[in-house]
Amino acid sequence: MPLMSTKPMFDLAYTGGFAVGAFNVNNMEITQGIIEACAAEKSPLILQISKGARKYAKMNYLKAIIDAAVAEYPWLPIAIHLDHGDTVDLVKTCIADGFTSVMIDGSHHPYEENVHVTADAVKVAHASGVTVEAELGMLGGIEEDVVGMDAHEYEKNVEKFLTDPVQAKDFWAKTKCDSLAVAIGTSHGAFKFKHEAKLAFDRIEQIMKTCPGLPLVMHGSSSVPAEFIDLVNKYGGQMPNAKGVPEDQIHMAVTKYGVCKVNIDTDLRLALTAKIREVFATKPAEFDPRNYLGPGRDAIVGMVRRKLHMLNSAGKADAIIQHWEKSGKPLPSFYSKPKAA
Ligand code: G3H
Ligand code: 13P
Ligand code: ZN
Repeated sequence: MPLMSTKPMFDLAYTGGFAVGAFNVNNMEITQGIIEACAAEKSPLILQISKGARKYAKMNYLKAIIDAAVAEYPWLPIAIHLDHGDTVDLVKTCIADGFTSVMIDGSHHPYEENVHVTADAVKVAHASGVTVEAELGMLGGIEEDVVGMDAHEYEKNVEKFLTDPVQAKDFWAKTKCDSLAVAIGTSHGAFKFKHEAKLAFDRIEQIMKTCPGLPLVMHGSSSVPAEFIDLVNKYGGQMPNAKGVPEDQIHMAVTKYGVCKVNIDTDLRLALTAKIREVFATKPAEFDPRNYLGPGRDAIVGMVRRKLHMLNSAGKADAIIQHWEKSGKPLPSFYSKPKAA
Protein backbone atom coordinates (compact mmCIF):
# COMPACT_ATOMS: atom_id res chain seq x y z
CA MET A 1 0.00 0.00 0.00
CA PRO A 2 2.49 2.66 -1.07
CA LEU A 3 0.74 5.97 -0.40
CA MET A 4 2.36 9.31 0.46
CA SER A 5 4.53 10.31 3.36
CA THR A 6 3.41 13.19 5.57
CA LYS A 7 5.92 15.58 3.94
CA PRO A 8 3.73 16.95 1.11
CA MET A 9 0.92 17.37 3.64
CA PHE A 10 2.95 19.23 6.24
CA ASP A 11 4.69 21.37 3.58
CA LEU A 12 1.31 22.96 2.92
CA ALA A 13 -0.17 22.71 6.41
CA TYR A 14 2.79 24.56 7.98
CA THR A 15 1.87 27.90 6.47
CA GLY A 16 -1.58 27.02 5.18
CA GLY A 17 -3.66 27.52 8.32
CA PHE A 18 -4.83 23.92 8.45
CA ALA A 19 -3.80 20.67 10.12
CA VAL A 20 -4.06 17.10 8.92
CA GLY A 21 -6.26 14.89 11.08
CA ALA A 22 -4.64 11.65 12.20
CA PHE A 23 -7.31 9.12 13.02
CA ASN A 24 -6.71 5.74 14.68
CA VAL A 25 -7.98 2.66 12.87
CA ASN A 26 -8.72 -0.69 14.46
CA ASN A 27 -11.26 -2.35 12.17
CA MET A 28 -13.23 -2.08 8.94
CA GLU A 29 -16.07 0.13 10.17
CA ILE A 30 -13.74 2.70 11.72
CA THR A 31 -11.58 2.83 8.57
CA GLN A 32 -14.59 3.14 6.27
CA GLY A 33 -16.13 5.87 8.43
CA ILE A 34 -12.94 7.95 8.36
CA ILE A 35 -12.33 7.52 4.63
CA GLU A 36 -15.92 8.26 3.69
CA ALA A 37 -15.83 11.50 5.68
CA CYS A 38 -12.49 12.61 4.16
CA ALA A 39 -13.70 11.79 0.65
CA ALA A 40 -16.90 13.79 1.21
CA GLU A 41 -14.86 16.75 2.49
CA LYS A 42 -11.98 16.34 -0.03
CA SER A 43 -9.56 16.35 2.87
CA PRO A 44 -6.09 14.84 3.26
CA LEU A 45 -5.83 12.31 6.07
CA ILE A 46 -3.48 10.21 8.13
CA LEU A 47 -4.64 6.75 9.09
CA GLN A 48 -2.71 5.75 12.16
CA ILE A 49 -2.20 2.30 13.57
CA SER A 50 -1.03 1.63 17.12
CA LYS A 51 0.81 -1.43 18.37
CA GLY A 52 -2.49 -2.41 20.04
CA ALA A 53 -4.36 -2.09 16.73
CA ARG A 54 -1.79 -4.31 14.99
CA LYS A 55 -2.31 -6.92 17.69
CA TYR A 56 -6.12 -6.65 17.73
CA ALA A 57 -6.89 -6.70 14.01
CA LYS A 58 -3.67 -8.26 12.67
CA MET A 59 -1.71 -6.20 10.19
CA ASN A 60 -2.60 -8.26 7.11
CA TYR A 61 -6.29 -7.58 7.72
CA LEU A 62 -5.75 -3.86 8.32
CA LYS A 63 -3.56 -3.69 5.20
CA ALA A 64 -6.27 -5.31 3.06
CA ILE A 65 -8.91 -2.92 4.42
CA ILE A 66 -6.71 0.10 3.73
CA ASP A 67 -5.84 -1.13 0.23
CA ALA A 68 -9.56 -1.42 -0.50
CA ALA A 69 -10.14 2.13 0.76
CA VAL A 70 -7.31 3.49 -1.42
CA ALA A 71 -8.71 1.70 -4.45
CA GLU A 72 -12.12 3.24 -3.79
CA TYR A 73 -10.80 6.82 -3.41
CA PRO A 74 -7.61 6.93 -5.51
CA TRP A 75 -7.52 10.73 -5.55
CA LEU A 76 -7.31 11.20 -1.78
CA PRO A 77 -3.93 12.06 -0.20
CA ILE A 78 -3.47 9.43 2.50
CA ALA A 79 -0.52 8.62 4.76
CA ILE A 80 -0.32 5.41 6.78
CA HIS A 81 1.36 6.11 10.09
CA LEU A 82 2.59 4.08 13.06
CA ASP A 83 1.20 5.64 16.24
CA HIS A 84 3.44 5.54 19.34
CA GLY A 85 6.04 3.13 17.99
CA ASP A 86 8.23 2.08 20.90
CA THR A 87 11.19 0.35 19.26
CA VAL A 88 13.31 0.65 16.13
CA ASP A 89 12.42 -2.98 15.36
CA LEU A 90 8.73 -2.10 15.22
CA VAL A 91 9.57 0.86 12.97
CA LYS A 92 11.42 -1.51 10.62
CA THR A 93 8.48 -3.95 10.57
CA CYS A 94 6.02 -1.16 9.76
CA ILE A 95 8.21 0.14 6.93
CA ALA A 96 8.31 -3.38 5.51
CA ASP A 97 4.50 -3.46 5.81
CA GLY A 98 4.23 -0.34 3.64
CA PHE A 99 3.74 2.42 6.23
CA THR A 100 4.66 5.82 4.81
CA SER A 101 5.21 7.50 8.17
CA VAL A 102 6.18 6.31 11.64
CA MET A 103 6.25 7.67 15.16
CA ILE A 104 9.05 6.70 17.48
CA ASP A 105 7.96 7.65 20.98
CA GLY A 106 10.95 7.83 23.29
CA SER A 107 9.37 10.47 25.52
CA HIS A 108 9.32 8.19 28.57
CA HIS A 109 13.09 7.64 28.32
CA PRO A 110 15.71 9.97 29.78
CA TYR A 111 16.52 12.74 27.27
CA GLU A 112 19.75 11.28 25.86
CA GLU A 113 18.09 7.91 25.31
CA ASN A 114 15.14 9.57 23.56
CA VAL A 115 17.64 11.33 21.27
CA HIS A 116 19.45 8.06 20.62
CA VAL A 117 16.41 5.88 19.78
CA THR A 118 14.84 8.66 17.69
CA ALA A 119 18.02 9.28 15.68
CA ASP A 120 18.27 5.53 14.99
CA ALA A 121 14.65 5.39 13.82
CA VAL A 122 15.19 8.42 11.57
CA LYS A 123 18.20 6.79 9.88
CA VAL A 124 16.24 3.63 9.18
CA ALA A 125 13.07 5.40 8.00
CA HIS A 126 14.72 8.04 5.83
CA ALA A 127 16.58 5.32 3.93
CA SER A 128 13.10 4.20 2.73
CA GLY A 129 11.61 7.67 2.20
CA VAL A 130 9.44 7.32 5.30
CA THR A 131 8.87 10.35 7.55
CA VAL A 132 9.39 10.22 11.34
CA GLU A 133 7.43 11.84 14.15
CA ALA A 134 9.14 11.99 17.55
CA GLU A 135 7.90 13.09 20.98
CA LEU A 136 9.41 15.31 23.63
CA GLY A 137 7.80 16.16 26.99
CA MET A 138 5.08 14.36 28.91
CA LEU A 139 1.43 14.53 27.87
CA GLY A 140 -1.02 15.84 30.45
CA GLY A 141 1.55 18.14 32.00
CA ILE A 142 -0.80 21.03 32.58
CA GLU A 143 -2.75 19.45 35.44
CA GLU A 144 -1.17 17.81 38.45
CA ASP A 145 -3.82 15.08 38.65
CA VAL A 146 -3.03 13.82 35.15
CA VAL A 147 0.66 13.37 35.88
CA GLY A 148 -0.08 11.96 39.33
CA MET A 149 1.58 14.47 41.70
CA ASP A 150 0.39 16.69 44.51
CA ALA A 151 -0.15 20.32 43.58
CA HIS A 152 2.99 21.61 45.30
CA GLU A 153 5.37 19.07 43.84
CA TYR A 154 3.71 19.58 40.47
CA GLU A 155 4.20 23.37 40.54
CA LYS A 156 7.92 22.79 41.00
CA ASN A 157 8.06 20.29 38.16
CA VAL A 158 5.71 21.58 35.49
CA GLU A 159 8.64 22.63 33.32
CA LYS A 160 9.72 18.99 33.18
CA PHE A 161 6.41 17.88 31.70
CA LEU A 162 5.66 20.48 29.07
CA THR A 163 7.99 20.42 26.08
CA ASP A 164 11.01 22.66 26.66
CA PRO A 165 11.49 24.92 23.60
CA VAL A 166 15.28 25.07 23.96
CA GLN A 167 15.56 21.32 24.40
CA ALA A 168 13.29 20.86 21.36
CA LYS A 169 15.79 22.76 19.21
CA ASP A 170 18.66 20.57 20.42
CA PHE A 171 16.52 17.43 19.95
CA TRP A 172 15.60 18.34 16.36
CA ALA A 173 19.22 19.14 15.46
CA LYS A 174 20.45 15.83 16.89
CA THR A 175 17.69 13.54 15.59
CA LYS A 176 16.61 15.16 12.27
CA CYS A 177 13.03 14.07 12.97
CA ASP A 178 10.42 15.32 10.47
CA SER A 179 7.78 16.37 13.00
CA LEU A 180 7.51 16.64 16.77
CA ALA A 181 4.70 15.70 19.14
CA VAL A 182 4.68 18.28 21.90
CA ALA A 183 3.33 18.28 25.45
CA ILE A 184 1.24 21.42 25.80
CA GLY A 185 -1.46 20.24 28.20
CA THR A 186 -3.32 17.56 26.25
CA SER A 187 -3.55 13.92 27.37
CA HIS A 188 -4.94 10.70 25.94
CA GLY A 189 -8.42 9.38 26.68
CA ALA A 190 -11.77 10.82 27.75
CA PHE A 191 -10.76 12.38 31.10
CA LYS A 192 -8.31 15.10 30.21
CA PHE A 193 -9.08 17.90 32.66
CA LYS A 194 -10.55 18.03 36.16
CA HIS A 195 -10.49 21.81 36.15
CA GLU A 196 -10.82 24.30 33.34
CA ALA A 197 -9.61 22.91 30.01
CA LYS A 198 -6.69 24.94 28.77
CA LEU A 199 -3.71 24.51 26.49
CA ALA A 200 -0.28 26.10 26.87
CA PHE A 201 -0.46 28.18 23.69
CA ASP A 202 2.61 30.13 24.77
CA ARG A 203 4.60 26.87 24.59
CA ILE A 204 3.52 26.22 21.03
CA GLU A 205 4.54 29.76 20.15
CA GLN A 206 7.95 29.37 21.81
CA ILE A 207 8.65 26.00 20.16
CA MET A 208 7.67 27.43 16.77
CA LYS A 209 10.27 30.15 17.39
CA THR A 210 13.11 27.86 18.49
CA CYS A 211 12.31 25.27 15.79
CA PRO A 212 11.20 27.21 12.69
CA GLY A 213 10.10 24.83 9.94
CA LEU A 214 9.46 21.85 12.22
CA PRO A 215 5.83 20.67 11.95
CA LEU A 216 4.28 20.25 15.42
CA VAL A 217 1.86 17.50 16.39
CA MET A 218 -0.83 17.50 19.06
CA HIS A 219 -1.66 14.12 20.58
CA GLY A 220 -4.61 13.68 22.92
CA SER A 221 -6.77 16.05 20.89
CA SER A 222 -10.21 14.55 21.25
CA SER A 223 -12.85 16.99 22.42
CA VAL A 224 -15.12 14.44 24.10
CA PRO A 225 -18.30 16.23 22.93
CA ALA A 226 -20.90 16.46 25.71
CA GLU A 227 -23.72 15.21 23.47
CA PHE A 228 -21.92 11.88 22.96
CA ILE A 229 -21.11 11.50 26.66
CA ASP A 230 -24.78 12.24 27.38
CA LEU A 231 -25.85 9.50 24.93
CA VAL A 232 -23.42 6.99 26.45
CA ASN A 233 -24.63 7.79 29.97
CA LYS A 234 -28.30 7.87 28.94
CA TYR A 235 -28.08 4.37 27.50
CA GLY A 236 -26.39 2.59 30.36
CA GLY A 237 -22.79 3.80 30.12
CA GLN A 238 -20.85 5.30 33.01
CA MET A 239 -18.55 8.09 31.96
CA PRO A 240 -19.11 10.83 34.53
CA ASN A 241 -16.78 13.82 34.43
CA ALA A 242 -15.42 13.04 30.97
CA LYS A 243 -13.80 16.14 29.46
CA GLY A 244 -11.76 16.85 26.34
CA VAL A 245 -9.97 19.71 24.65
CA PRO A 246 -12.54 22.31 23.51
CA GLU A 247 -12.79 22.42 19.73
CA ASP A 248 -12.23 26.18 19.60
CA GLN A 249 -8.87 25.70 21.35
CA ILE A 250 -7.79 23.09 18.82
CA HIS A 251 -8.96 25.35 15.98
CA MET A 252 -6.84 28.14 17.46
CA ALA A 253 -3.78 25.87 17.91
CA VAL A 254 -4.05 25.07 14.21
CA THR A 255 -5.06 28.34 12.58
CA LYS A 256 -3.26 30.81 14.86
CA TYR A 257 -0.28 28.82 16.17
CA GLY A 258 0.44 26.54 13.19
CA VAL A 259 0.07 23.00 14.57
CA CYS A 260 0.20 20.64 11.54
CA LYS A 261 -1.10 17.26 12.77
CA VAL A 262 -3.88 16.57 15.26
CA ASN A 263 -4.42 13.06 16.71
CA ILE A 264 -7.93 11.83 17.36
CA ASP A 265 -8.94 8.40 18.61
CA THR A 266 -11.16 8.77 21.69
CA ASP A 267 -13.86 10.76 19.84
CA LEU A 268 -14.17 7.97 17.24
CA ARG A 269 -14.53 5.40 20.01
CA LEU A 270 -17.15 7.59 21.67
CA ALA A 271 -19.19 8.06 18.49
CA LEU A 272 -19.20 4.32 17.78
CA THR A 273 -19.99 3.35 21.38
CA ALA A 274 -22.74 5.95 21.85
CA LYS A 275 -24.55 4.78 18.71
CA ILE A 276 -24.23 1.10 19.51
CA ARG A 277 -25.53 1.71 23.03
CA GLU A 278 -28.46 3.65 21.64
CA VAL A 279 -29.41 0.82 19.26
CA PHE A 280 -29.11 -1.80 22.00
CA ALA A 281 -31.22 0.27 24.41
CA THR A 282 -33.91 1.36 21.96
CA LYS A 283 -34.13 -1.90 19.96
CA PRO A 284 -33.53 -4.66 22.50
CA ALA A 285 -34.46 -7.40 20.03
CA GLU A 286 -31.79 -6.33 17.52
CA PHE A 287 -29.00 -8.83 17.08
CA ASP A 288 -27.82 -8.33 13.49
CA PRO A 289 -24.36 -6.72 13.85
CA ARG A 290 -24.91 -4.75 10.61
CA ASN A 291 -27.78 -2.97 12.30
CA TYR A 292 -25.65 -1.60 15.13
CA LEU A 293 -22.21 -1.44 13.51
CA GLY A 294 -23.75 0.37 10.51
CA PRO A 295 -25.19 3.24 12.61
CA GLY A 296 -21.90 3.26 14.55
CA ARG A 297 -19.99 3.71 11.29
CA ASP A 298 -22.35 6.54 10.25
CA ALA A 299 -21.67 8.24 13.58
CA ILE A 300 -17.93 8.08 12.84
CA VAL A 301 -18.52 9.70 9.44
CA GLY A 302 -20.33 12.58 11.15
CA MET A 303 -17.67 12.92 13.83
CA VAL A 304 -14.79 12.99 11.34
CA ARG A 305 -16.53 15.53 9.04
CA ARG A 306 -16.93 17.79 12.08
CA LYS A 307 -13.20 17.40 12.85
CA LEU A 308 -12.13 18.21 9.28
CA HIS A 309 -13.91 21.56 9.53
CA MET A 310 -12.37 22.23 12.93
CA LEU A 311 -8.93 21.50 11.44
CA ASN A 312 -9.69 23.58 8.33
CA SER A 313 -8.48 20.68 6.15
CA ALA A 314 -11.74 20.24 4.21
CA GLY A 315 -11.09 20.98 0.53
CA LYS A 316 -7.27 20.74 0.79
CA ALA A 317 -6.82 17.35 -0.95
CA ASP A 318 -6.23 18.69 -4.47
CA ALA A 319 -3.63 21.26 -3.38
CA ILE A 320 -1.58 18.54 -1.69
CA ILE A 321 -1.64 16.30 -4.76
CA GLN A 322 -0.61 19.26 -6.95
CA HIS A 323 2.22 20.10 -4.55
CA TRP A 324 3.39 16.49 -4.74
CA GLU A 325 3.30 16.58 -8.55
CA LYS A 326 5.41 19.77 -8.54
CA SER A 327 8.04 18.08 -6.38
CA GLY A 328 8.85 15.87 -9.38
CA LYS A 329 8.18 12.69 -7.44
CA PRO A 330 5.96 10.38 -9.49
CA LEU A 331 2.44 9.90 -8.21
CA PRO A 332 1.55 6.34 -7.25
CA SER A 333 0.24 4.35 -10.20
CA PHE A 334 -3.23 4.04 -8.68
CA TYR A 335 -3.71 7.80 -8.45
CA SER A 336 -6.42 9.30 -10.63
CA LYS A 337 -7.98 12.73 -10.73
CA PRO A 338 -11.26 13.18 -8.85
CA LYS A 339 -14.35 12.89 -10.98
CA ALA A 340 -16.22 16.17 -11.41
CA ALA A 341 -19.03 16.41 -8.87
O1 G3H B 1 -2.49 7.20 21.82
C1 G3H B 1 -3.10 6.16 21.89
C2 G3H B 1 -4.14 5.85 20.88
O2 G3H B 1 -5.40 6.30 21.31
C3 G3H B 1 -4.13 4.38 20.55
O3 G3H B 1 -4.65 3.67 21.61
O4 G3H B 1 -2.97 1.89 22.10
O5 G3H B 1 -5.39 1.64 22.74
O6 G3H B 1 -4.70 1.50 20.34
P1 G3H B 1 -4.40 2.06 21.70
P1 13P C 1 -7.22 11.06 22.08
O1 13P C 1 -7.25 10.03 23.15
O2 13P C 1 -7.46 12.43 22.66
O3 13P C 1 -8.16 10.78 20.97
O4 13P C 1 -5.74 11.07 21.45
C1 13P C 1 -5.36 10.10 20.53
C2 13P C 1 -3.90 10.11 20.27
O5 13P C 1 -3.17 10.98 20.65
C3 13P C 1 -3.37 8.97 19.48
O6 13P C 1 -1.97 9.02 19.39
ZN1 ZN D 1 -0.99 9.72 21.14
